[in-house]
Amino acid sequence: MASPPPPYPLILSLLLLISTAAVTTAITIPISPSSAPASTDLHQILAHLASASVSRALRLKSTHNLPQDSSPVFATSLVKTPLFPRSYGGYSISLSFGTPPQSTSFVMDTGSSLVWFPCTSRYLCSRCNFPNVDPAAIPSFIPRNSSTAMLLGCKNPKCQWIYGPNVESKCSGCDAPGSSPNCTQTCPPYMIQYGLGSTAGLLLTETLDFPEKKVPDFLVGCSILSARQPEGIAGFGRGLDSLPSQVGAKKFSYCLVSHSFDDAPVSSDLVLDLDSGSGKKTAEVSYTPFRKNPVTSNSALQTYYYVNLRQIVVEGKHVKVPSEYLEPGSDGNGGTIVDSGTTFTYMERPVFEAVVKEIGKRMANFTVATEIQDLTGLRPCYNVSGQDTVSVPELSFKFKGGAEMKLPVTNYFVLAGDGAICFTIVSDNVVGTGLRGGPAIILGNYQQRDYYIEYDLEKERFGFKRQVCA
Ligand SMILES: *[C@@H]1O[C@H](CO)[C@@H](O)[C@H](O)[C@H]1NC(C)=O
Ligand SMILES: *[C@@H]1O[C@H](CO)[C@@H](O)[C@H](O)[C@H]1NC(C)=O
Ligand SMILES: *[C@@H]1O[C@H](CO)[C@@H](O)[C@H](O)[C@H]1NC(C)=O
Ligand SMILES: *[C@@H]1O[C@H](CO)[C@@H](O)[C@H](O)[C@H]1NC(C)=O
Repeated sequence: MASPPPPYPLILSLLLLISTAAVTTAITIPISPSSAPASTDLHQILAHLASASVSRALRLKSTHNLPQDSSPVFATSLVKTPLFPRSYGGYSISLSFGTPPQSTSFVMDTGSSLVWFPCTSRYLCSRCNFPNVDPAAIPSFIPRNSSTAMLLGCKNPKCQWIYGPNVESKCSGCDAPGSSPNCTQTCPPYMIQYGLGSTAGLLLTETLDFPEKKVPDFLVGCSILSARQPEGIAGFGRGLDSLPSQVGAKKFSYCLVSHSFDDAPVSSDLVLDLDSGSGKKTAEVSYTPFRKNPVTSNSALQTYYYVNLRQIVVEGKHVKVPSEYLEPGSDGNGGTIVDSGTTFTYMERPVFEAVVKEIGKRMANFTVATEIQDLTGLRPCYNVSGQDTVSVPELSFKFKGGAEMKLPVTNYFVLAGDGAICFTIVSDNVVGTGLRGGPAIILGNYQQRDYYIEYDLEKERFGFKRQVCA
């Protein structure tokens, strides 16, 4: 019944009203794109981001390998895959810990919960040659210089945030006959994998120091060994150890500036709202409820922000996607999560193919740029050379409750050089049904750009509205 939407010109300027919401009792942190490839080799950058997005998706989907139920291995050799020469397309924030405060930067990540920083003067980072990052000079937090840094005790309830209630059995050093009642046994070291990277270290409690507020006894990871990490990670997931959980945020919001693959020092604000109660909707924001994964025993699946994506619409046409992909089933697999740590949105193969087929029909007048597809790992790519404007099909996501995300064209097509444009949603290359398990759709940060995005933790809902973020 809907009238066909007007053609979308591929123009990189967005004429949108910027609306600002008054926020009380809020902590505001500047947030900047941490993808700053120095290279002008756009194909290589896109290829890296596409590959990193898929790798990240596969990691988020394999949720059985987390520390909670197994004794973590304090690995010394973590890297098994080839080096990618470019940054990873995330967004970073700066946080201060300790007394006196030391400032470090962190990737803002809603797909994980622990907050950790590069730590001690002996911090080692392998394969951390990102643009503008000297792996030998990644700023490190020095616990010795802080009067408030404490190793987390094994009996501290916060140790269970990471390892679950069964950690008691690993704290037996304190139960041995004749052991000191002031047991100094520490919570076991952690090791976490993210996409291609990983990190390992010891847990501390430390003061998190915002200009507006000090948060004492904040659980933070002191990482001593990492692979492929340009900086620390601030977990914004649903776990008890995440930053919003520990500071008691009722909601948090951000607006991601467009990354144009350059070094422009632009930033926008991440806002943590500590004000309880009102539960008011933010003006002009569309909301859809968060849903929990039914498999409550898996802490990884419980960390993710699931939303009910009901329909994917290409140029007014509802793409047929089996419901097993749109909703997490009783086995925990399927469903859609929102993840600020993934660059390009990931769709499991059958969903991706259905969307791409619809797009292909509308782009039939253009030649597929196979060479660019091979170079970037993105597809489809089209040769649009010689065109002033190109009409590409509209893409929109419809969520439970009626919230509709009509993506600006720059959020799903990229000018890929040599007169080509490429679709910026990815899938894995597994033949057949692809990798099943974990979330089927991961809404990445590239698709969230130039939206005001709100995670309302009190009302359990996800909100968004178009906004120019820069
Ligand atoms: C830690 O303290 C040492 C000695 O006082 C000093 O040289 C160093 O710069 C400090 N490091 C940080 C990160 O504050
Ligand atoms: C344990 O700690 C308390 C208070 O800090 C102290 O008074 C006591 O002597 C300590 N006991 C042992 C065995 O170290
Ligand atoms: C392709 O081009 C033809 C001729 O210009 C036009 O009639 C047709 O509508 C175009 N098809 C699409 C899908 O744009
Ligand atoms: C696109 O088509 C033009 C004209 O046919 C050709 O010169 C150019 O090399 C093509 N570009 C790509 C990326 O295939």
